Amino acid sequence: MDIDFEAEAKHFPERGRVFEFLAPPPNPALNVDKSVLLYVESLSVAFDGFQAINDLNLYIGDGELRCIIGPNGAGKTTMMDIITGKTKADSGVAYFGQTIDLLALDEPAIAQAGIGRKFQKPTVFEGLTVWQNLELAMAQERDFLSLLNAKLTAEQIINIEEILELIGLKEQITKLAGALSHGQKQWLEIGALLMQRPRLLLVDEPVAGMTHQEMDKTAELLRSLAGKHSVVVVEHDMEFVRNLSAGGKTVSVLHQGAILAEGTMAQIQDDERVKQVYLGE
Ligand SMILES: Nc1ncnc2c1ncn2[C@@H]1O[C@H](COP(=O)(O)OP(=O)(O)OP(=O)(O)O)[C@@H](O)[C@H]1O
Ligand SMILES: [Mg+2]
Repeated sequence: MDIDFEAEAKHFPERGRVFEFLAPPPNPALNVDKSVLLYVESLSVAFDGFQAINDLNLYIGDGELRCIIGPNGAGKTTMMDIITGKTKADSGVAYFGQTIDLLALDEPAIAQAGIGRKFQKPTVFEGLTVWQNLELAMAQERDFLSLLNAKLTAEQIINIEEILELIGLKEQITKLAGALSHGQKQWLEIGALLMQRPRLLLVDEPVAGMTHQEMDKTAELLRSLAGKHSVVVVEHDMEFVRNLSAGGKTVSVLHQGAILAEGTMAQIQDDERVKQVYLGE
């Protein structure tokens, strides 16, 4: 696809506004008066008698970047499944801001409210180009053909351009997503998620299978999103978590469906209970 961004931008009368694009749109239903964007309290779910989430409490600040670690089977993915409406909780509460009751909403309504999720495996459309993947992600309902045939507005083009810049794929716009490296696919998927302008991003194991260099770039990308967005990152790679949480950000340790410890990476690493859990693996 041949697009002259500069020429397109000239036709866009409110050029100054585009820099605001990455910020999520104001949601009148969302109330973050207390600076907490996500409240999870006394949350529980059992699968066939196995307590996967067990009286879990978790609070994520508005604009916060939070890392969540924990051994296999601790309930990290299940927690995200409940927050995004994929799994129904047995009891407890989950609120988005002060007023939005997530447990009362279905998956599309939760996404619409401003929660975006990135699954463990990259799920880009391999047969489409990088550009087309982002274009497609813009659509509310995935009406693919009509979208690709429609002419984008200059504003939409600039939106895509900003995301490309952020995810570092500006040179790859005409490349098929299937031909990207594993790391680049993960970034493309994060970019696709950002096209929907979520306020809260839930990211499950983003760096599994990445090179060190790709990990560093991913940490930089996720850190750059915090502030305008709240970002919750589940990850096993400790070096990555150390990098991501640098500067005293909070790390939460999930174990047997509940928070075992919370603090800076240094505090977590010093915690006897955390050491026990990881030594026992
Ligand atoms: N739909 C389900 N039905 C039955 N059991 C499930 C279901 N989803 C999760 N579990 C079980 O709940 C427990 C928690 O799983 P979960 O995937 O949340 O762990 P996790 O912390 O994400 O682990 P990992 O680090 O390996 O990804 C596991 O024992 C898992 O087998
Ligand atoms: Mg998991």
